[in-house]
Amino acid sequence: MKALVTGAAGFIGSHLCEYLIEKGFEVVGIDSFMDYYPRSIKEANIADLRKDHNFEFVEASLLGVDLAELLDGIDVVFHQSAQAGVRASWGQTFKIYSDNNILATQNLLEACRKSPVRKFVYASSSSVYGDTKDLPMSESSLPCPVSPYGVSKLAAEHLCRLYHKNFGIPAVSLRYFTVYGARQRPDMAFHRFFRWALDDKPLEVYGDGEQSRDFTHVDDIVESNWLAFEKAQPGEVFNIGGGARITLNEVIEIIKEIVGRELEVQYQSVQKGDVRHTFADMTKAKEKLGYKPKVSIQDGLKTEYEWIRSLVE
Ligand SMILES: NC(=O)c1ccc[n+]([C@@H]2O[C@H](COP(=O)([O-])OP(=O)(O)OC[C@H]3O[C@@H](n4cnc5c(N)ncnc54)[C@H](O)[C@@H]3O)[C@@H](O)[C@H]2O)c1
Repeated sequence: MKALVTGAAGFIGSHLCEYLIEKGFEVVGIDSFMDYYPRSIKEANIADLRKDHNFEFVEASLLGVDLAELLDGIDVVFHQSAQAGVRASWGQTFKIYSDNNILATQNLLEACRKSPVRKFVYASSSSVYGDTKDLPMSESSLPCPVSPYGVSKLAAEHLCRLYHKNFGIPAVSLRYFTVYGARQRPDMAFHRFFRWALDDKPLEVYGDGEQSRDFTHVDDIVESNWLAFEKAQPGEVFNIGGGARITLNEVIEIIKEIVGRELEVQYQSVQKGDVRHTFADMTKAKEKLGYKPKVSIQDGLKTEYEWIRSLVE
């Protein structure tokens, strides 16, 4: 079996490539090294993969590459590439989001019409829900994103659905809820908290810290992609959460225990586009995919801390 993983040098894509190779797949990974965060971090993410003879890396953008050639011999697509980040998606930079999240997805789906695959798994996001009062968030609620990033992820999800309906592309969307663990992007909260803790700086929190998230460990996200490949009905959408919803203030208490000391916290104004709470209703993923998150927030945070410490030392 041969898989195409887009965004292969990123946080989630690189873990997924390793998992698929462990499963005996040949993997083609594509990444354009978008400069949202340093290339050196992404190079480190795929350093071991590059040594594996079952991994082929293509440095290119989905917007510029010959997609027919890229899809030649591919059995399954795991479409993880995107311009990530909620806060940077306002203003002129929205074009980067519309190009890489919407147009690139449409190009890939279109190419799959001529190069059929067994499954097309799309990395969607809990950000499609916006600030809903309906908690836990269910796939049947009307999505109403509150950031341009969320709009771009929802648009691509709709494209997956309608390419399935009209052309039979076996697309499945997984709505990831805030992902963490080793290789987490440097703009994300836990990464920044651990960095500040190691540098003896105060932890900066947007808002009062009482916002809550359904934090999901990257190992569980990777597993959900596998389950979607094996079991998901094409055209479906699934919430993929971590199974425990906690506030940022509670996370900071766990981080204090992990680093073994008191930490100063500075509260700042709420950022536009941030939602107050996320909480996944995972009934559907449990029933239809057999998905069950395995990594507790305590254990998951420890793995991320060990990784960040290894970067600093
Ligand atoms: N990290 C999270 O908490 C989270 C939550 C919900 C959804 N997601 C989604 O999961 C996916 C992976 O996110 P991540 O956190 O690993 O981000 P990431 O930025 O680490 O990885 C995405 C990768 O895609 C690449 N890329 C972007 N546009 C491309 C293009 N046109 N062609 C080729 N490569 C391109 C980037 O260079 C980057 O390396 C994204 O689709 C994101 O929207 C992430």
